[in-house]
This record gives sequence, structure tokens and C-alpha cells, in this order.
Amino acid sequence: MAERKKVTIRTLQAKKRKGQPITMMTAYDYPTAKWVDEAGIDVILVGDSLGMVVLGYPNTLPVTMEVMLHHCKAVARGAKRALLVGDMPFMSYQVSVEEAVRNAGRFLQEAGMDAVKLEGGREQVKTVRALVDAGIPVMGHLGLTPQKIHQLGGFRVQGRTAAAAKRLVEDALALEEAGVFAIVLEMVPAQVAKYISERLQVPTIGIGAGPHCDGQVLVFHDTVGMFEEFQPRFVKRYAEVGSTIREALKRYREDVEARAFPGEEHSTYMDEEEWKAFLELVEGKA
Ligand code: KIV
Repeated sequence: MAERKKVTIRTLQAKKRKGQPITMMTAYDYPTAKWVDEAGIDVILVGDSLGMVVLGYPNTLPVTMEVMLHHCKAVARGAKRALLVGDMPFMSYQVSVEEAVRNAGRFLQEAGMDAVKLEGGREQVKTVRALVDAGIPVMGHLGLTPQKIHQLGGFRVQGRTAAAAKRLVEDALALEEAGVFAIVLEMVPAQVAKYISERLQVPTIGIGAGPHCDGQVLVFHDTVGMFEEFQPRFVKRYAEVGSTIREALKRYREDVEARAFPGEEHSTYMDEEEWKAFLELVEGKA
């Protein structure tokens, strides 16, 4: 089968023009990146959600640049075709535009990413412009922005009132004007996501934002049933990998305890001659 062409930001823009849905999935390590890539998914997001689903933190705030780069490098080794987007962690772009450019540059220069994502609307316009001017493609992120969890008062739907929805539309237009190539809309009412998607030239990628976005994204561990602490309403689980792994580990423990593993087929023996020579060597007998 012919290798499919590498996905670029132009591919995503063409998909929007043609009305073809864009697919995006998170990945945080080498094997997952390979699976996601081989499934033909357009975009792999190395999301800071890894803080919760891989590292066990209650939110994404403890995730650092070094942690993100570590995971991005593993993903870049596993993926060949998908567009790779690295999530800028909390405090890597909020302090100053200079720091944001330097940190975003590391995702491309050291970690093999094709683009970065950052959270926020009008307050990030200067930063987005500076990154785009530096040649770094930027994906925006509006609606529920988990790095502002304490300000938002929890993981809840955003833009539910007329005034809040208007602010979201203005933020989306401001990000587009600043040069983002796509915008994630997280936990936004479906009508608002549709309205924004129709007004923007750049694609929207929804998560908990209804069916009218130009694309969809989910967190890998939610999608395959590997994160079992809670399941947001917008998640569709396509597998129950957590139960499969739990069952496999239980069988492994039982096998070892019953001396049923390893069997002969899992074991390697020395040649008879070598074994005799060994016994002679260490014990002076054949
Ligand atoms: O960190 C992440 O995985 C994200 C997605 C939920 C869009 O930002």
C-alpha cells in the first residue's frame, strides 16, 4: 500500500474547505503514537492532559516544559504521517512573549513537533503573533481551558450565556486574526461551536463541543478505557483496555504463583556439552 502523505497545516485547511472532518487524538509515548499514526488520524496532540491521565495529578498545572519535551520526543519517534502538536504547559508562555517564543521553539527544535498549542483568547494575541512571526505554527484553545481551572471553578461547560458566547466568538476571531492555523473548542455549547466554525476560515477541532466543528479530538486514555477515574459526558469509549490489562495482569500473577509461567517454550538452555564443561569448571565434576 502506498505511504500516505505527511499531514501539514495546509492539509487541515484543505479539509475544512472541502468539508472533510479532521481527526485528532492525544498520544504521550512511542507505542501510542505508532497506533494513532497507523490508524490514519490527521493530528497527534501531545496534550498536557498527560499530567492527569499518565502522571496521576489532579489537573494539568504541575506539568513542566521538561516533562512535555520528554513525551513529545517519544511521540515524534513513533509517528511518521500525522501532524504533531505539542501543548505548551502552564507558565511556559504566560510570563512574557520572549519566554513563550523560546519555549515554543524548543518543541520544534528539540522535540520533533510540527506546531504548538496554547490556551486562551484575546490575552494571547501578542504571543500568537510573535510565535507565528518566528515561523512556529500555533493552534489555539478556547472554551474550557484547563490551565485556568482555578479561575473557572472546575471542569465545566463554557459560553452558556449570551454574553459569554459572544466573548468566545470574539476570542476565536482575535486568534484567527493573530495567525493560528486551527482552534480547539473544549466544552462549548454545540450552537456556539457551530456559529464559530462557520465564521472562521481556520478549522475548529471540538471536544465536548457538538458535531458541527471541522474536526474532533479526544484524549487517548478516555477513548480506549485506560483512564477510569471519571468519564466526561462527551467521551465515547471505543475499547475497555483497562479491563483487558487488569485481567491480563491477574492471569500473569496466577500463572507465576502456580509455576505455570514461564514454560519450556519461554526458556533457553545451554548446549549439553557446554553445561557439562561448566559443571566441570565450577565443581570439578561432569
Ligand atoms: O491536553 C489536552 O489533551 C488537550 C485536549 C483535551 C484538547 O488540550
